[in-house]
Amino acid sequence: MMNKTLRWIGVAAMVVGLAGCAGAPEPLQVASPDGQIRVSFELIEGVPFYRVDRGGQPVLENSRLGFAFRDQEPLDGGLEIVSHGTANFDSTWEQVWGEKHSIRNHYNELRVALQESGAPQRRLDVVFRAYDDGLGFRYEFPEQEAMTAFVITDELTEFHFAGDHEAWWIPAYEDNRYEYIYHRNPISELDVVHTPVTFETSQGLVLSLHEAALTDYASMTARHTGGTVLKCDLVPWPDGAKVLGQAPMKTPWRTLQIGGSASDLIESYLILNLNEPNKLEDTSWIKPGKYVGIWWGMHLGTMSWESGPKHGATTERTKEYIDFAAENGFDGVLVEGWNVGWDGDWMQNSELFSFTEAYPDFDLREVTDYAREKGVVLIGHHETSAGISNYESQIDDAFELYQELGVTMIKTGYVGTRTEGGEHWHHGQFMVRHYRMVVEKAAEHGIMLDVHEPIKATGIRRTYPNMMTREGARGQEYNAWSVEGGNPPEHTTVLPFTRMLGGPFDYTPGVLDLTFEDINPNARVKNTLAKELALYVVIYSPLHMAADLIENYEDQPAFQFIQDVPTDWDDTVALHAKIGDHVGIARKDRNSEDWYVGSITDEEARSFEVALDFLDSDRKYVAEIYADGEGADWESAPYAINITQALVDSTTTYKLNLAPGGGTALRLRPATDEEAQSVPAYE
Ligand code: NOJ
Repeated sequence: MMNKTLRWIGVAAMVVGLAGCAGAPEPLQVASPDGQIRVSFELIEGVPFYRVDRGGQPVLENSRLGFAFRDQEPLDGGLEIVSHGTANFDSTWEQVWGEKHSIRNHYNELRVALQESGAPQRRLDVVFRAYDDGLGFRYEFPEQEAMTAFVITDELTEFHFAGDHEAWWIPAYEDNRYEYIYHRNPISELDVVHTPVTFETSQGLVLSLHEAALTDYASMTARHTGGTVLKCDLVPWPDGAKVLGQAPMKTPWRTLQIGGSASDLIESYLILNLNEPNKLEDTSWIKPGKYVGIWWGMHLGTMSWESGPKHGATTERTKEYIDFAAENGFDGVLVEGWNVGWDGDWMQNSELFSFTEAYPDFDLREVTDYAREKGVVLIGHHETSAGISNYESQIDDAFELYQELGVTMIKTGYVGTRTEGGEHWHHGQFMVRHYRMVVEKAAEHGIMLDVHEPIKATGIRRTYPNMMTREGARGQEYNAWSVEGGNPPEHTTVLPFTRMLGGPFDYTPGVLDLTFEDINPNARVKNTLAKELALYVVIYSPLHMAADLIENYEDQPAFQFIQDVPTDWDDTVALHAKIGDHVGIARKDRNSEDWYVGSITDEEARSFEVALDFLDSDRKYVAEIYADGEGADWESAPYAINITQALVDSTTTYKLNLAPGGGTALRLRPATDEEAQSVPAYE
């Protein structure tokens, strides 16, 4: 059913030309609307291959397609083309919330229907979509007698890169899920990696391999199989099966985003375009926003999740946080450790978690009533510690309880190296199904989700916009306790070109007390203060946390930016970008005429001149500037910040001066007549 908030703009045209039959000229081709990206498909002695070119230069050389199954022959050869057709599609749709309001979905499609020449004549379709910013393709198993229920033991899809490009990657099949620092190596040195994995070619192209619409399938990792070939490696069930399938069935899209520069990746919406439109009729209850929470104290160790003298989630403290949220314009208060089950080693005792019973010093009804009075939402917390059956057995009661109490937002968690007593990876089909079930159930109960230890983002937020944000990378928490002493300054300059291509990240920025020697001298936030602010713009999330202890925001002028910055945007523009070095992004507020800029660098000081030509040309703006101060340096002078104002307009060239590990955060708001006279012009 089409959602009321989706408005089709222009003409959505699907022109299908079915042509051909066995013996049609090969290879079959489809090009992107701008003609730059060309995908070719051919059978070579019955074996299916595809290749990709951009501007006449090879991006992927001939790469194999196909499947292996349990108890039946592979579907990877002996094939013929029974029909093929092309189509074009052009429409614009509106995001319920996001980093851009209106998104154009413009592509050309090639559909190839294949059949085995010999018995049992199984059928398989391959669908390619060529966009100006890359391509997606997927397999479809049509309904057929020769194949009903089946077990995929291997997806044979290859990505044969045309060069030994530098890859930005994190390892797959490791205990900490996606929580690793990105490495940089040539393709030929990779083993097996998660997606998105992003490449830079020696010609300056940027490529990112990922998948879209992962809904009932195993997630794809990419395994190096020799030379410059990566092969799809599906995360298995405990018995080695990869996917339990039933025709008719569509696989997720295999995606390759292609840009002429790193900036192009920031402005690519390919993953969202390859997902199904919004399925929720009423989205009025889905609200982006910002939250504070009883959280950082547990990571620092000054509070505890478990009961006892340090218990964080008390009724009294929660009320203090609610008061703070109400006074400072925050929408929600997250409370972790409110429920029974944290005592002892909670990471090993998932079956002890109750999702309805509170600790005696936390009165759930009292705090939700109090929050309601103050116009703030309590954000519920369900840490499962990867005990799936314990959670599923309580989930209806837990969601009903929250719904009754007006808790419209839940943070879930799946801490553990494997789920369900060590049996399942977080990324196999069993868990993909679980995560999806929770999203659908949450939607039925009017609940938004923030998932930690999640399945990677593949654009499901378009279909279920209550799937707001998730973790799925190393976030701020590592700065409290990681043995390496916190995330290196480079980390956040890699994320926008890798993890963030999947979708929003609950990174939890806003720790303004960057160093806490008296609590943990071995870890800290490796940023300047201005960079910590800039992360609110650089890292997109419809729900952003102000993660610090609320007392650390007292008498802190930089806190004003966190109060002001929105989390729902009309538009996004990349200003400067180099993977692992620096990134600058401008975003326009969805609900005002304000623009915000976040610009960050790694451990190197850098300067950039950026044109503010995205501003309206017929007005002046006050730039509220949060820049690295004199001598600022993440290591030696992280707190040096200059907070100033200047008058700018669309002709201004703004000079960003970023300290080592530094950044700049700007709010650009239309000037009043008085300000246009009184605020000093930017020089
Ligand atoms: C890990 C999550 O990332 C973190 O945010 C949470 O506080 C703990 N698990 C406990 O649930």
